[in-house]
Amino acid sequence: MNGSELLEGKILICDDEEGMRRYLKKMLQSHGLTVETFGDGAALLRRLENDESGGPDLLLQDIRMPGMDGIEILKRVARLRPALPIVVMTAYGTIDSAVEAIKLGAYDYITKPFPKEKILGVLQKALEREFLINENRDLKEKLSRQSAPGEIVFASKKFRDVYELTLQVAESEANIIVQGESGTGKELIARAIHYNSPRKGQRFLSINCAALTDSLLESQLFGHIRGAFTGAVTAQKGLLEEANGGTLLLDEIGDISPALQVKLLRVIQERDFLPVGSTKSKSVDIRFVAATNKNLEKEIKEGRFREDLYYRLNVIKITLPPLRERKEDIEPLARFLLNKYSQRTKKKVTGITSGALRLLGEYNWPGNIRELKNVMERAVILARGNEVSEDLLPIRGGDDLSSSPAEEAPTSLERVERAHIIKLLEKTGYHKTRTAELLGITRKTLGRKIAEYALNVPEGVSETD
Ligand SMILES: Nc1ncnc2c1ncn2[C@@H]1O[C@H](COP(=O)(O)OP(=O)(O)OP(=O)(O)O)[C@@H](O)[C@H]1O
Ligand SMILES: [Mg+2]
Repeated sequence: MNGSELLEGKILICDDEEGMRRYLKKMLQSHGLTVETFGDGAALLRRLENDESGGPDLLLQDIRMPGMDGIEILKRVARLRPALPIVVMTAYGTIDSAVEAIKLGAYDYITKPFPKEKILGVLQKALEREFLINENRDLKEKLSRQSAPGEIVFASKKFRDVYELTLQVAESEANIIVQGESGTGKELIARAIHYNSPRKGQRFLSINCAALTDSLLESQLFGHIRGAFTGAVTAQKGLLEEANGGTLLLDEIGDISPALQVKLLRVIQERDFLPVGSTKSKSVDIRFVAATNKNLEKEIKEGRFREDLYYRLNVIKITLPPLRERKEDIEPLARFLLNKYSQRTKKKVTGITSGALRLLGEYNWPGNIRELKNVMERAVILARGNEVSEDLLPIRGGDDLSSSPAEEAPTSLERVERAHIIKLLEKTGYHKTRTAELLGITRKTLGRKIAEYALNVPEGVSETD
């Protein structure tokens, strides 16, 4: 943030210092934000309790105030507004309360005094995240109002774009190709298309073109009359007839034989077909969604897929990005799956350690969400405690990452605390008593933290001056 950009949103500021309130209000307003200020916790809580004027997007709160203290305010705000992001302001040397605030769910903290660019940067980050979450929630509501085709979880901008396109094209009558690596959610998206289309009251059927022999696939699709072939003792309706009025997913379309490609082309073009053995054609009205993990353009070039069929199916193409290209989705998906499997197994595995999360984030997921699903299911089954830890994950970080999985990464909060202690030690010339004072902790606690963080404190620094 360069200090001239415009932000958007409504911010509540709670700080007992009038000068601070005035400064922040003026400065944030000049950057496009709507600002309301409060001098104490009671006033802030009253505002949140009687909110009629549209909810705020963010709370910026001083942590040390007379009267109701900041931590107490935070707890109450969290109860009133669990989804409201909070950024706390701490005084120099009160890192402990910042730590507590974050544990209570504050989004971030900033140490006073702060330069203008710093606070703008922190607020921008918090607001962007909030807007993204809200937008995803709106989209999801749109979808779940229709009979739910299975929950779709994501946080990335990349997948959100795909999802928006899906909802947008669902309403049309166009045939669609969904392309993506194995396990990226092609079937899930195909269902979403159907359940958001005008055909949602009709049937959604799917057939895996790669799993069946040619003749079986044909009779499954087209049906057959009695006596059409050996063993056809009764007539059988095909999927084309069953799906009439609805949507048919042709899964793994890239594996269909040349002969069947011709027959399918006819169905799509003429909107009618002949059951196997029959001479009487039946007309159908079907929307086709075709899924593939192959590059169909390449298949066409190499003569394995008919170009005319491709153009009939590919009115719109939805390409699902692999999980490794949308790493922001890993954590929400992992938590969603964890929840699902812990409910299913009735085990109370509810958390993921930071080390395990890091490992999930580093891995490159060749099997995409299907693989993540398997990994989480296995972890829940093997878990003895209520957390998924690294040792329950049968994966290792990608080749491009040289980090050793055995070494626990510091959480960012620890990193911040460590850096802050170093800064103050340097500032006081390694004067431990003064550093401890500035940090608001005892000298003994500081000693412990110095040992814990393996900080290098030069010997022989005078403590008497
Ligand atoms: N965004 C998502 N949110 C929740 N679950 C998902 C998401 N994407 C995929 N899944 C789940 O992952 C599994 C694999 O998805 P799906 O079967 O749709 O993928 P696919 O691309 O058809 O895979 P394949 O190529 O192996 O057939 C399914 O159980 C699906 O519900
Ligand atoms: Mg599939």
